Amino acid sequence: MVSVILGTQWGDEGKGKIVDLLAEKSDFVVRFHGGNNAGHTIYSGNKKYPLHLIPSGILNPNSKCVIANGVIVDLEVLVSEIEMFFSDGIEFKNRFFISDRCHLILPYHKALDLAYENARGEKKLGTTARGIGPCYADKVSYNGIRIYELKDWDLFSEKFVFQSEMKNKILDSFGVAPLNTERELERLAELREIVLPFITDTYQLLQKALSENKKILMEGAQAVMLDLDFSPYPFCTGSNTIPGAINTGAGIPIQKIGSISGIVKAYTSRVGSGPFPTELKDKLGDDLREKGKEFGTTTGRPRRVGWLDLEAVKFACEVSGVTEIIITKIDILSGLEKIKACIGYELDGKPIPYSSCGYLELEKLTPVFKEFSGWTEDIMQVKSFADLPKTCQEYVKFIEDFLDITVKLISTGPKREEFLEIRN
Ligand code: GDP
Ligand code: IMO
Ligand code: MG
Repeated sequence: MVSVILGTQWGDEGKGKIVDLLAEKSDFVVRFHGGNNAGHTIYSGNKKYPLHLIPSGILNPNSKCVIANGVIVDLEVLVSEIEMFFSDGIEFKNRFFISDRCHLILPYHKALDLAYENARGEKKLGTTARGIGPCYADKVSYNGIRIYELKDWDLFSEKFVFQSEMKNKILDSFGVAPLNTERELERLAELREIVLPFITDTYQLLQKALSENKKILMEGAQAVMLDLDFSPYPFCTGSNTIPGAINTGAGIPIQKIGSISGIVKAYTSRVGSGPFPTELKDKLGDDLREKGKEFGTTTGRPRRVGWLDLEAVKFACEVSGVTEIIITKIDILSGLEKIKACIGYELDGKPIPYSSCGYLELEKLTPVFKEFSGWTEDIMQVKSFADLPKTCQEYVKFIEDFLDITVKLISTGPKREEFLEIRN
């Protein structure tokens, strides 16, 4: 009854689009890790919604949307998303819930994220500057504040002032001006009023849903290659992104997970620094970026782009137990004479698996490519696999054979109806 949407690359595979599509068959859509570093794009008709916190099932009136305990929440961003939907007349009273256990991203987390990045200078990691790393660091060092604590304003204020003053000392050591604790607290008091009605025990809510055999869709954010443990650290995000995070981040037992759909973009993109073995730094890369509109949903930064890296995706599927593949953005490859995919890595003339590579190896190794013939036809309107150009079919079949996992669905455009199902 629990199914999972999981990015298998470096994020921005089109998870939001697929979650929105599958929401129709889901009673619950649940975010379980990460924060507003995520940017998931969905459409209502021609209206585009770049969502950072609210789950991508929100446009389906029959889905309940849950921000579970593993997510870290910036109240400012949350409230702006709530207000955006209210002003568009999208009603979600009684179908939007936030776990009381979520930790808060507070203004000093964002300031610290920036201060660390600036101090790193040329070695900066290229974070989204949303305070993700500092917030999760506070969580594990017992300096975090849970959303639950907003219920008692006096206690919350005391904790906030204490933390804020400590952080101001750290900021001062970076030469950064201190935050105005009082002003920040006043703003938090306003935001609190809007958010409190949505805060609840989502653990109970989800356990009840499980016991009633409701369909639950877990919406992964970021992707396996950004996992805190299985990435080439520190070129990662602050949370575990693999399905293990569903248990810790939403309280759902792992045995309840029925299917895990690995989202594979037909090529690769990455935002921020870090090794990228199949990166295209030439005109072809620039063209793909333009055609694929590869500019960050969260920060607007141009995304780095490259060929599909099946060596990395194979690892992502293996470590996550992916049971089926969904290919996205294959329409963007139309018109290319030749397409390449990386099918292995070599270092010093010897094969090396992705799992044995830290950033030192990933920067030096040579990707082994397989070349495919391209196709010229526009495929956005194609509705059956048999109607795809033969060379496009061959590319898909190769991915399926290489990963040894069934391709279930192919997305051929950003809109909900732009897809073709291979197997039901
Ligand atoms: P997410 O973070 O994985 O949800 O992905 P993003 O929303 O950040 O980035 C994916 C971008 O590609 C968005 O602009 C989507 O609207 C768009 N998109 C998703 N699937 C497809 C597809 O199959 N084809 C095309 N052309 N665009 C797509
Ligand atoms: P979605 O869910 C792409 C990247 C950042 C940076 C690194 C660390 O939309 O796929 P962080 O702010 O998390 O500390 O930054 O992780 N990153 C993403 N890249 N898509 C995302 O989310 C990302 N979330 C974080 O660019 O390299
Ligand atoms: Mg995104």
